[in-house]
Amino acid sequence: MDRILIDGGEEILVGRGLPSPLLPPSDRLRVLVVTQPGARQVAEAVAERVDIPTVEIFELPDREAAKDLDTVEAIYRRLLEGGFSRRDTIVGVGGGTVTDVAGFVAATWLRGIEVVHVPTTLLAAVDAAIGGKTGVNFQGKNLVGAFWHPSRVVIDLDVLSRLPRDLLREGSAEAVKAGLVGDPLLVDAYRRRGLDADLEVVVPRAVAVKARVVSADFREAGRRAVLNYGHTVGHALETVTGLAHGYAVAVGMTAAAEIARRRHGYDGDDQRRLLQGMGLPVDVDDAGVDAGAEAVLEAMSRDKKRDVDGIRFVLLRDVGDPTVEHVTPDDVDAALEAVGVR
Ligand code: GLY
Repeated sequence: MDRILIDGGEEILVGRGLPSPLLPPSDRLRVLVVTQPGARQVAEAVAERVDIPTVEIFELPDREAAKDLDTVEAIYRRLLEGGFSRRDTIVGVGGGTVTDVAGFVAATWLRGIEVVHVPTTLLAAVDAAIGGKTGVNFQGKNLVGAFWHPSRVVIDLDVLSRLPRDLLREGSAEAVKAGLVGDPLLVDAYRRRGLDADLEVVVPRAVAVKARVVSADFREAGRRAVLNYGHTVGHALETVTGLAHGYAVAVGMTAAAEIARRRHGYDGDDQRRLLQGMGLPVDVDDAGVDAGAEAVLEAMSRDKKRDVDGIRFVLLRDVGDPTVEHVTPDDVDAALEAVGVR
């Protein structure tokens, strides 16, 4: 298995099948596996692999709606009933919704217990499950959360190889994002083979980009923000239209590329072709959603990426050369126009 480390004690294992032992050694007595219906089979395989007597499974309701404080409270109750102490472990098995919620519960239960993730979507494997951002939605997206490293993340490429095409496509938006901000060779893999790019190549490379960035700036005081490429417009589109995260990020990257074209001469057309070659949407029409500029701007104004000086965008001067900049209202209008938001 490939082993990639993030400063702060996070170990990411990428390979085929589940490693043995699955969990890092510790004196834990109990494990709560948190999952969703679509990942139940993997969760059961994980529970079987955990070699202690008390392993319970907690199934969240399906979809992103599960990412709220009611769900968090329900898990706290289960932990209380089960007598979970500081030495015990939560294991998140599923997509980003599961790993965000499981991570947040682990970060806050008794002021923090161990969490391990087994991501079952490409999106979670290359982004949500790694790097220790946890959170739930409250009014806005991810407005309540904590930074809390998982001790281990196990990425089973066999599970990812069986993903339905649409989930593979959605996750590939975050994988190619990692390449665009930090690894031109990863971008080339998608350029050559589109969505059929080899997971054995793109997954470890995308994880390595994120590991490098997070090791340098865990709490997003600066550099980590580059991982939000495409997310300023992307999150707003997600909030306004309910568009799936990866697709919203693809449209968001296209919007950001327009500002980068104006400011830095970035080749946004090339990026468009790349995303289209992967079957990703590059405007709201492609994405099959309708979003008015007013609603999108309003959602952007509530985003975490705003500060007293206004809205910040991650912009590329070139592939692998990101910068984070405050932009003008005129830039934002051009970016939204470029992706059909009027
Ligand atoms: N998804 C962006 C980050 O983890 O910082």
